[in-house]
Amino acid sequence: MSSISSYFRPALTVITLLAGLTVLFLMYYNSFPSPKCHPPPSHVQKPHTDKPVVLLWFWPENKMFDFKDCKTLFDIDSCHLTDDRSLYSKAHGVLLFHRAIQDDLSNLPTSHREKFQRWIWFNTDSPTNTRRIEGIKNLFNLTMSYRKDADIHLRWRLTLRKKTDEDFVLPKKERLLCWIVDNLDLNTAGEGYKYYKQLLKHIKVEIYDRSSDEFWKDENYFQIISSCKFYLSFENSIHKDYITEKFNGPLAAGTVPIVLGPPRINYEDFAPGNSFIHVKDFPDAASLAEFLLKLDQNNTAYMSYFNWRSFYIARRHLTEQNHEFAYAICQACYYIGLEMNSKFRVVPDLYKWFLLS
Ligand SMILES: *[C@@H]1O[C@H](CO)[C@@H](O)[C@H](O)[C@H]1NC(C)=O
Repeated sequence: MSSISSYFRPALTVITLLAGLTVLFLMYYNSFPSPKCHPPPSHVQKPHTDKPVVLLWFWPENKMFDFKDCKTLFDIDSCHLTDDRSLYSKAHGVLLFHRAIQDDLSNLPTSHREKFQRWIWFNTDSPTNTRRIEGIKNLFNLTMSYRKDADIHLRWRLTLRKKTDEDFVLPKKERLLCWIVDNLDLNTAGEGYKYYKQLLKHIKVEIYDRSSDEFWKDENYFQIISSCKFYLSFENSIHKDYITEKFNGPLAAGTVPIVLGPPRINYEDFAPGNSFIHVKDFPDAASLAEFLLKLDQNNTAYMSYFNWRSFYIARRHLTEQNHEFAYAICQACYYIGLEMNSKFRVVPDLYKWFLLS
């Protein structure tokens, strides 16, 4: 007997110890508040089903892309993007493309709007090209446009250079000054076109027609721009903050943009002052042309327009037709996905803000 008990005693001690430890562990574990009382911080990726739904009510210009591209292209995965209108009542955000809204508003959602739902005014145009639709003034909670003070931005931004980014190498230059034009630019009433006509008298400008298919492809667009020393980044209308991918293109391609648009100081809100040349830096087109021809002969001076690239990076925007609105739509997804943005907001007077300020 004694030999058996002496054999069991240590085993019993171990079992008792283990049981005690288990009880202690369970007590400790349960003393934590249940996760239900504490929402996870917003940077924690939530499971798919928990993501806020963002409903794209109209496909802008019918240019469709795969919503998964938000993840693959921009690493944006914080909402559930859909074009399925039957999800309307569940949608936290409803994206309404301004140009697609009918004058009588008959193609807007009509059913009850849930308290949490926010309508996003989605406008990629400048005030000049924005049609005034009566009756939409007080419908929106959020704005998405080129304006810096919009809730959601459309613009491609420069980003800080990372150590892992490749060093800048000036692309091979074969042309002096280029311009890829589309119909709006050739609107003969526009300031850009007038300036271009003046410029032509003093310097050669290589023109590329954007409507011809071959230039639409990604590589061609950036290839052409990068082969030029200077590029005309002329906006089709002039408004505060209306600085489009016409400016981003040459920055991303390694070319010096010659800008025509809002004042220099407005460009400097978005890019370093020594990254571009503003037409208003010169009294007229003749003196700008003279300056460009001089820079063409002076490599050190020309290269100084690339100094900013030690600190910042311009990324190529998407030039493929179907992706024209992808960046904007993904940005809306990102914004709605951030929990901290889910506060009450009404855009008081859309037109007063967008057209008049
Ligand atoms: C959104 O705007 C509408 C109309 O102006 C308003 O009634 C609603 O309360 C707003 N909702 C949120 C979540 O801000």
